[in-house]
Parts: sequence; structure tokens; C-alpha cells
Amino acid sequence: MKKTIVGIVTASLLATSAMAADYVMKISHVVSSSTPKGMAADYLEKRIEELTQGKIDVQVFPNSQLYGDGDEMKALAMNNVQVIMPSLSKFPSIVPQIQLFDLPFLFRDKEHLYKVMDGEVGAKLKSYVDAKKQMIAFDYWDAGFKHFSSSKQPIINPEDAKGLKFRIQSSKVLEAQFKAVGGNPQILPFSEVYSALQQGVVDATENPLSNFYTKKFHEVQSSLTLSSHGYLGYLVVMNQQFWDKLPKDLQEKVALAMKEATELERKETAIEDAKIMEALKKYAADTKKLEIYQLTNEQVAKWRKVMESIYPQFYSVIGEDLIKKAIETK
Ligand code: LMR
Repeated sequence: MKKTIVGIVTASLLATSAMAADYVMKISHVVSSSTPKGMAADYLEKRIEELTQGKIDVQVFPNSQLYGDGDEMKALAMNNVQVIMPSLSKFPSIVPQIQLFDLPFLFRDKEHLYKVMDGEVGAKLKSYVDAKKQMIAFDYWDAGFKHFSSSKQPIINPEDAKGLKFRIQSSKVLEAQFKAVGGNPQILPFSEVYSALQQGVVDATENPLSNFYTKKFHEVQSSLTLSSHGYLGYLVVMNQQFWDKLPKDLQEKVALAMKEATELERKETAIEDAKIMEALKKYAADTKKLEIYQLTNEQVAKWRKVMESIYPQFYSVIGEDLIKKAIETK
């Protein structure tokens, strides 16, 4: 009896809070809630609801629960979801210039990367997204530098990549990068990577540590090479119609929450990277099922030489001037 009354009260409170919201903002992403992107999406939910006193009801759907790689852009364009934060490698069909971020060995370090993202080059790329009219670009979020992993031979020198089937995201730059070292790249949605590695559909892949660890790819790969050869980041985008309908005061609150979420997201990436590295070392020592390799400077130089040779192929797509501007950013 008591239980029933509690149930009724809870249900009616929930109904009241749902009714009180003037807007529903669905946020969809493909990674785990414990990644920096997942944490920042959850922060957005909490903070936007707090700042708008519940006028915007934010609902977060992680792990491709609502939409996966293949359909999230379309769902955003149709306003079926209001906010997504796809990796920059998933924008090429809309804004091919964004493949700049996929160019291997483009960024010297995180400081250089943030200067490019938050400076002239990043702003230019966001303006191309905004020009599409279906979506509005907010901030760049971070996942970190990518590392190779394999279930066949460890990937230490460029020759080791020869003949390996690599899972890649949908980017021509990533395709060219692996072809340059004799690999066979195959585009797969993120939600299918674990089983594809487990079943041998692909042998190898590239990931930032947070995605590698939270999706348990270490269980289906025998080596991880800390190569930092490329970068994976995100662009947070919102449906234009949804944004335009928000009154100005709510727009300001959303923008503030977004700014705070970006700061948190980038901070978390550094914290998580260090924690995950420790956890992976422990896993490797305890199970003896994973070898972790750190490349020497000479090995890095060999990768850089062969992978950078693809840049000219993308001068016309990305813009030679934009690539040069990114390289020269201080
Ligand atoms: C991937 O497909 O590897 C990533 O884009 C997943 C993500 O959103 O970090």
C-alpha cells in the first residue's frame, strides 16, 4: 500500500517536472559515460537544467543507444536529436576541410592543438559547419592522441602495418594514412569495433586511450603501441532550428553551460589518460595478454616520413593554406 502511494507520488512528480519543461534537449553520443566526452555530456545535462531551472529538460543517451555513427548526423538535421558531438573524422561528408584534424603528425603537442582549435583555423572550420544552416557549431572537445593496437604482429615500424586490416572512422585522410603503410583500412561504426576485433573482421585499429580502455579493446588486442601518430577530437553541434527557437536568456545559459563543459572535458582527458595508462599497465602485467610498446624517436621519424607523404593529396580538399596555417600556429 505504502509502496503504491510512493509510486504514485513519484510518478506525478516526474510528470509535473516533465510538464514544467518548455524544451526537451536530447543529447546523443556513441561512447561510454565514463569517457571525458561522456562526463561532459552528463555535466551539460545537470548544468543546463540547473541554470534554466528545469525549463530545458536535457536527456543524455550514451553508447550509440539512440543513434550511432551512421545516423546521428541525419537525426540532428531532422531535429530528432538536438545535440551531438561526433568525432571530427565523421564530418567529411558535410565539411571535408575538417579532415585537417586527421592529418597524421600535424600537432606538435596538446598546446599546439588547442591553439589551432581555438584560433583562426578552428574558427574557419566551424564557420563552414555553420554555413550548412542545419546545425550550429559550439566548442571542440578532446579525446586525445591516438595509438595503434593489433591482434597480429605488434605495430612498431611502418613495415609492421603491411597487410593488416585496420578499422577506421569515415575519413579519407585516415584511409590514405593506412594505405601509405600498406594496410587495409575498413570503415566501421564505433559500436561494431569490439566484435569486429574479436571475430577477426579487422586486426588492428587506432584509438585514444579512453575509448580503447572503456570499450575493453585491450581484451581483443594483443599489443598497444603508444604512437600518438594522430588526433581524435570532437565538435559539439546543435540543431539550428532548436537553437533559434530558444529565447535569448536560455541561449545564454546554454552557452555558459557549454563553456564550462568544454573546460571540464579537456581537463578530464588529461586526468583519464594518466589513470588509464596505469590501469592498462596493470592489466598487461597481471594477465600477460597485452604488450605495451613505446616508440623510440627513430621509429617515430620513420612513421612521420611515410605518413606525412599523404598531405599533398589533401591540399585541394582541405586547403593548402589552412594546413600551412595550422602547422605554423605558435
Ligand atoms: C570512433 O569512432 O572511434 C570515435 O569517433 C568514437 C568517439 O566518439 O570517440
